[in-house]
Amino acid sequence: MRTPFIGGNWKMNLSLQAATEFVETINNQIPPASEVETVLAASPLFLQTMLEHNESPLQVAAENCYYEDEGAFTGEVSPKALSEMGIKYVIVGHSERRKYFHETNDLINKKVQAVFRNHMYPIICCDETMGRYENGDHISWMVNQVTAAIQQVAATDMRHAVVAYEPSWAIGTGHTAPADAAEEGCYLIRQTIADIYSDEIANQVRILYGGSVNAENIHELMKQPDIDGVLAGKASLSPQEFVQLANFNH
Ligand code: G3H
Repeated sequence: MRTPFIGGNWKMNLSLQAATEFVETINNQIPPASEVETVLAASPLFLQTMLEHNESPLQVAAENCYYEDEGAFTGEVSPKALSEMGIKYVIVGHSERRKYFHETNDLINKKVQAVFRNHMYPIICCDETMGRYENGDHISWMVNQVTAAIQQVAATDMRHAVVAYEPSWAIGTGHTAPADAAEEGCYLIRQTIADIYSDEIANQVRILYGGSVNAENIHELMKQPDIDGVLAGKASLSPQEFVQLANFNH
C-alpha cells in the first residue's frame, strides 16, 4: 500500500509573514503521516521560519535546488544546505522551470541525483502540452522525460522518489484534466518505471497528478488506481483549502 501524498507548491507567492501564519493556522489540522503524507513546497526564503513554526506532520519542501553541493554558483540553492536544514523533499523539473528557466532533461537528472546524494527525495515533475496530447505523441514525450530524469538512480533510491504528471494545459488554467486522462498519464509513468526497474519498484513509487487540483476535484482524482496524490498550486495558497486537500479522505 502506498501512503497518499498531498503536495502543495506555492511557487513565487506569499510573504514571510503569510507563510508563518499559514503554518500556524494548519498546525492542528494535518493528518498523521502514517495516513497521508502532507508536503508543502515554498521559497527557500521561507523554509527556516516555516520549519520553526511547524508543529504538525507537515513536511516543508523546497521548490528547486542546484546540482552541485557548494561552490561558485552565485544565487543558486545548495541541496546540501537544504538537507542540513531538515528538508526531505525537493521539487525537480517543474514545467515552469523547464519553460522559463530552460531546464533540460540532462540538468534535471543531475538535480535528481544531487537530491538523493544529500539524503532527500525528489518530486520529479513531467509535463506535456495539449498539442502533444492531441497529436498522440505525448506518450513518447513522457516516457523520454521520465527515463532521462532517473538515469543512474539506484533502485534503492528510486523506490523513495515521487513523480508528478502535470500537463501544461491544466496548470493554472482552472481546467483540471479529466480523471481518466490524469490516470492515463500516471499509469504511463508507472509502466515506464516498471520497464526500467521492476514492477516491485514501480509499485512503491508515489505518482501524483498536478494541474488545477482543488478541494472538489481531488476526490475523483484520488479514486484512480495509479494516482497516489496531487501537487496543487493555486489551491495550496489557501490554508483552508490546503487542509481540505490533506483531509480528502475524511
Ligand atoms: O505544481 C503545481 C502545478 O503547477 C499546478 O498548479 O494547481 O495552480 O494548476 P495549479
